[in-house]
Amino acid sequence: MKLTFGSKSRLNNGVEIPILGFGTLRIRGEDVQNAVLWALEAGYRHVDTAKAYENESDVGKGFKRSGLPRDEVFITTKLWNDDHGYNNALKAIDRSLKNLELDWVDLYLVHWPVSGRRVETWKAMERILKDGKARAIGVSNFTIRHLEELLAEADVVPTVNQIEFTPYLYQKELQDYCEGKDIKIEAWSPLTRGIKLGDPKLVEIANHYGKTPAQILIRWNLQHGTIAIPKSVRKERIIENSRVFDFSISDKDMKRLDGFNENLRTSGWDPYSDLFK
Ligand SMILES: NC(=O)c1ccc[n+]([C@@H]2O[C@H](COP(=O)([O-])OP(=O)(O)OC[C@H]3O[C@@H](n4cnc5c(N)ncnc54)[C@H](OP(=O)(O)O)[C@@H]3O)[C@@H](O)[C@H]2O)c1
Repeated sequence: MKLTFGSKSRLNNGVEIPILGFGTLRIRGEDVQNAVLWALEAGYRHVDTAKAYENESDVGKGFKRSGLPRDEVFITTKLWNDDHGYNNALKAIDRSLKNLELDWVDLYLVHWPVSGRRVETWKAMERILKDGKARAIGVSNFTIRHLEELLAEADVVPTVNQIEFTPYLYQKELQDYCEGKDIKIEAWSPLTRGIKLGDPKLVEIANHYGKTPAQILIRWNLQHGTIAIPKSVRKERIIENSRVFDFSISDKDMKRLDGFNENLRTSGWDPYSDLFK
């Protein structure tokens, strides 16, 4: 199937999510308002934020400034680690909606699989879905073990697992597991936070296609069937990152990129660590 900027992926509850979204980590205030506005002007229809980014209210303002109807833009936010537990989670979504100045989000994610209370938290997520405060619910940074634990107790299967996913951290086993459960992978830090954009073997592939390394990394994700959410504060890069639909990477080069895996985690957070046992 030909991928376009307007392509959407159907989640397991029927909700459709644009396959290319806009990330907003580490941008705040006027900067994030402008970045969201530029992204929407460039044609993005999917914005990713989180309580932890301390920018929900400015993301909401950027969306408002676009003048786009609410149902044309897919907005995700996330429950932070100190809001786990049933009652805390119910309060957290209300606070996020207030900050965003929205009645509902399209997707609400459990940001990290904090040990101890994640199943209880999921019960609140199911309530939030029922109450119409989120059109879909999902998780982030869950490993197969965390998902098995959750699925044993869940009434609602998560629609999405948002994980770090790049050629340099090619989590194939987790992707295959999620596919088997009809849980979509969303790729965070799809540009490796910039760390690998100068890697000569990536640059060589980019030159071959007449594309930038950032565009190759985004396209690699989309061809793996994931949803990618690159971030930039710069208008020209926001546009550049959306120009990934006029070429495709050959099977041979996809395999070559898969082979770049070096288990690189760019954030310093590891879902396999004791913090998340
Ligand atoms: N669920 C989670 O735990 C989690 C964790 C991390 C991130 N996320 C989400 O995923 C989104 C993306 O991840 P990220 O922000 O960590 O990193 P990223 O999108 O992989 O990379 C962003 C970095 O790359 C630079 N950049 C962007 N476009 C570029 C281009 N075309 N050429 C060269 N450099 C470029 C940006 O700099 P400039 O801004 O200066 O252009 C920034 O330094 C986040 O914003 C957030 O929404 C989720």
